[in-house]
Amino acid sequence: MRHGIRFQVNKMLSQVLRSSLFSAQSLPPFRARSFAAVARHQQEKRRELFDRVIRVDHAGEYGADRIYAGQMTILANSGAGETIQHMWEQEKEHLRLFNDLIDRHRTRPSALLPIWNVAGFALGAGSALLGEKMAMACTIAVETVIMEHYDTQMKALEVDDSDEGKELLEIIKKCRDDEEHHHDLGIEHEGMDAPLYSIATCAIKTGCKIAIAIAERV
Ligand SMILES: [Fe+2]
Ligand SMILES: [Fe+2]
Repeated sequence: MRHGIRFQVNKMLSQVLRSSLFSAQSLPPFRARSFAAVARHQQEKRRELFDRVIRVDHAGEYGADRIYAGQMTILANSGAGETIQHMWEQEKEHLRLFNDLIDRHRTRPSALLPIWNVAGFALGAGSALLGEKMAMACTIAVETVIMEHYDTQMKALEVDDSDEGKELLEIIKKCRDDEEHHHDLGIEHEGMDAPLYSIATCAIKTGCKIAIAIAERV
């Protein structure tokens, strides 16, 4: 009986030994896991993240510039004109910041900028044609989506301690704060009292989310 147990134990030990030898042989050489390879992989991942972030944010700020251009075409001389002009000036500054990032990081801009141009202007002018309150409702809807979008990006960038990562994070934080200010101005100017507010803002938010998903890739 004892002899039988010893035989079983020896058999198991030899199986374990054989399987560990097999595993060791199947590991890639140590050189393939060198620090240089790991660093290169991280650099590529960072590059992909930065490209995606800068491309979509540049497209978004470009679209925002066109929205306010459209609204000002209709409402420049209205009671909301001064507020819209103020928000537009801040969007121009955001676009300037992302134009600069596009140049310095050599990021390919969205191939669909002509579409964002037309769509942004049409949304701005179209909402303004429905009145000052609808123009402000449009701002509330757009900025709500953009704030969420920037919050998600900030979470992804907070773990990056490179100088480039910190700079990008600071720029996004600044834009995000301004977008919140625009959102609040939209509420102050009675955007939520616009006719069919829920339906209109739901449609605009959906459009913005689709545009963001496309602009990250194209
Ligand atoms: Fe902006
Ligand atoms: Fe904004």
